Amino acid sequence: MIKFLKIYRGLKLIILNAIHFRLILVGLKLSFLLLTNILTKFLFLKLKNRIITNNFFDYTKKFRLSRNYFKHNPPIWFEIFKKNNLLNKDINILEIGSFEGMSVLFFNKYLKVKNLYSVDFKKNDNFLYNIRDLKNINFFNMKSDDFFNKNLNINFDIIYVDGSHYSDDVFNDLINSDKLMKKNGILLIDDLLLDVGIRKKGYKFYEEVMGGVFLFLKKKKNYKFLYTGHQLILKKI
Ligand SMILES: C[S@@+](CC[C@H](N)C(=O)[O-])C[C@H]1O[C@@H](n2cnc3c(N)ncnc32)[C@H](O)[C@@H]1O
Repeated sequence: MIKFLKIYRGLKLIILNAIHFRLILVGLKLSFLLLTNILTKFLFLKLKNRIITNNFFDYTKKFRLSRNYFKHNPPIWFEIFKKNNLLNKDINILEIGSFEGMSVLFFNKYLKVKNLYSVDFKKNDNFLYNIRDLKNINFFNMKSDDFFNKNLNINFDIIYVDGSHYSDDVFNDLINSDKLMKKNGILLIDDLLLDVGIRKKGYKFYEEVMGGVFLFLKKKKNYKFLYTGHQLILKKI
């Protein structure tokens, strides 16, 4: 029942944004993918990769984590990284929004991470504790805009955008990420279906993650859709 409510709300959010940004085709594509991906891919992968999920959350018990923003990701991420041959090669990863490092732990457990750049304007003590033994991580304690302004000479195989959830910031993070993304790189965007704007007065439906995604997709056509659900996962082509 909750799943159907989520899908209904997600579809409503997509359609409202598609009309607002005049991107009807993108709206139709996202709506179709949301319906099919949540009802088939998500449930299938949850079952198929349940051992990965259980192992990962067992492993995280050794660390200091107060909240789990990562609940639904392990089975989908693992499958996508496997399908795109990212499990066994040296890769560079960028993450916007480190929080306590749950995503960092996943990247380090399942991938051969050469460089992991993690950006957050808040310095979290649990994060510092959780990464204390990792040699391949560079933490940038700053806003994502300031990080991108550094013009660092590096390209990434995977970029996870999970910082500010305000549409203009999401758009900036995505456009800047695109510049640093390798061809065939994977772009993971969290909280696609965040819909406070529909549920609460004073918020606007187009000022959340979905709005930033529509602005990005209006400009960039060279991305293939790999997964549409609580996250949007794209591949640069
Ligand atoms: C949902 S949490 C990230 C969760 C983490 N990726 C995980 O999987 O556990 C979002 C984080 O983004 C950070 N953040 C918000 N706006 C930001 C910005 N403009 N630049 C950098 N970090 C930002 C917040 O401080 C917060 O720690």
